[in-house]
Amino acid sequence: MIEDWNQFLMPYEQAVNELKVKLRGIRKQFQESNQHTSIEFVTGRVKPIDSILTKAKARNIPEDRIEIEMQDIAGLRIMCQFVDDIHEVVKMIRTRKDMNVVQERDYITNKKPSGYRSYHLVIEYPVQLITGEKIIFVEIQIRTLSMNFWATIEHSLNYKYQGEFPSEITRRLENAAEAAYQLDEEMSKIREEIQEAQHLFSHGKGKDERFQKYLNK
Ligand code: GTP
Ligand code: MG
Repeated sequence: MIEDWNQFLMPYEQAVNELKVKLRGIRKQFQESNQHTSIEFVTGRVKPIDSILTKAKARNIPEDRIEIEMQDIAGLRIMCQFVDDIHEVVKMIRTRKDMNVVQERDYITNKKPSGYRSYHLVIEYPVQLITGEKIIFVEIQIRTLSMNFWATIEHSLNYKYQGEFPSEITRRLENAAEAAYQLDEEMSKIREEIQEAQHLFSHGKGKDERFQKYLNK
């Protein structure tokens, strides 16, 4: 039995807070060096106790195995502008020395039947406690703004209908997922245009600083 939930959740809270700072730091570094930032924004949360218990019950996970079997007690979400940025972020995370990727799920190449798309990583992350180091699992979901929009809406509807969508809603969600996918495709094409322009400008004679700044935003 977990007797002290505050105590149990403390390393997860620590990890979420640290990782928010670290991942937001990446964004800052790109911005400071006038490069396109592959990270648009970062959110994080610790799973509420009632959700942990509900999930443990549904999966038949005994309380003393929660920390091993439930890998999303600490969760980070990284939002990107472009699909290519997601792969950049994944690469960056894989090479970091302060975390270790133990699982990857690519729901972008293989979207879920619901229409859900995102790239999921589970990492091992060491937290320094007064009792010493504790390595915990953290789930990182990486997605575009468009994927995030769809997932957020679908999640709310799921909550409302408890997963039993009326067929009309299912159909519309499928359409919306396709529209979100098309939006990402279109934006990727525009991105290439932008980068081509950026390249021309940085190699050309007439460097208009304001335009350069605009491109690098
Ligand atoms: P969980 O019990 O959710 O951990 O399922 P799992 O272990 O099979 O992991 P999976 O990678 O499929 O999903 C983990 C998380 O991804 C979920 O908790 C959601 O945050 C998100 N997710 C997965 N599928 C969907 C979906 O169909 N819709 C939405 N909105 N989110 C999803
Ligand atoms: Mg999971």
